[in-house]
Amino acid sequence: MKTIYGVFGDPIEHSLSPLMHNAAFQALGLECEYHAFRVTRDNLRDALVGAAALGFGGVNLTIPLKEKALEIVEPDALARKIGAVNTVDFKGGMRGYNTDGIGAILALKDKGIEVRGKKVLLVGAGGAARAIAYKLAWEGARVTIANRTIQKAVSLAGEVGGIGVGLDLLGELIQDSDILVNSTSVGMFPKVNETIATAEIMHPGLVVLDIVYNPLETKLLQEAKRASVGAVDGVMMLVYQGAEAFRIWTGQNPPIKVMESAVREALKR
Ligand code: ATR
Repeated sequence: MKTIYGVFGDPIEHSLSPLMHNAAFQALGLECEYHAFRVTRDNLRDALVGAAALGFGGVNLTIPLKEKALEIVEPDALARKIGAVNTVDFKGGMRGYNTDGIGAILALKDKGIEVRGKKVLLVGAGGAARAIAYKLAWEGARVTIANRTIQKAVSLAGEVGGIGVGLDLLGELIQDSDILVNSTSVGMFPKVNETIATAEIMHPGLVVLDIVYNPLETKLLQEAKRASVGAVDGVMMLVYQGAEAFRIWTGQNPPIKVMESAVREALKR
């Protein structure tokens, strides 16, 4: 009998996780299947208890369930600090993890970029930023957080031992950074002409990671290319957060290239 995995969220119909994980299961010949389920916040507890009772292997959680899950599952230390769970493993109970931050770090590593000791400017202070900020700090990066609502930047920076600022000095801050990460929704479809930074304020040696993957090449990444600096797209973060969930569930090395191709093919359509 196949082991079932899934992603819970609302809305969920456009999730790329099923095709990404199913491609991985197939590539490794695992008797597993991954599906998307529309689950509201109010139904999350029932859905998780039900999935565990039905013998699911694990689930991913996405908007709007990641924070609520903390009350239901047993989170590890990182997920507890971040305040959000994106991966639940049903082996021996309901263990909660957050693989979003490691997804961003591995997306950079995939391109040969280490974050230890680097000055990283993280733009945004929302849910995604929290996961990335904690993991960056954990990995030894020097983190500055810039956010439209400055108080959120200051508060998150205080938690991870970084500096929190507003967006007004972004130009100067980028000049002083090794890595720029956009964790805001700026540039996401349909507002594809928006960007947090242009080529003029990017210096040689800078690397830009945009977690937005719709469109694949955001205006920010176009600007990075125009400035001839490193550009890493959001697909890699999506793939690596999924890959780490896959590793937690199956104990196997995730087939990264297979997962990446599945996502890129789907985004082309
Ligand atoms: P997610 O869970 O995807 O991180 P979120 O928690 O809603 O989503 O966070 C969205 C982030 O994008 C926030 O940092 C938000 O800034 P505020 O905290 O000031 O709201 C940022 N953001 C969204 N639209 C923006 C815009 N037009 N300009 C600058 N920042 C923006």
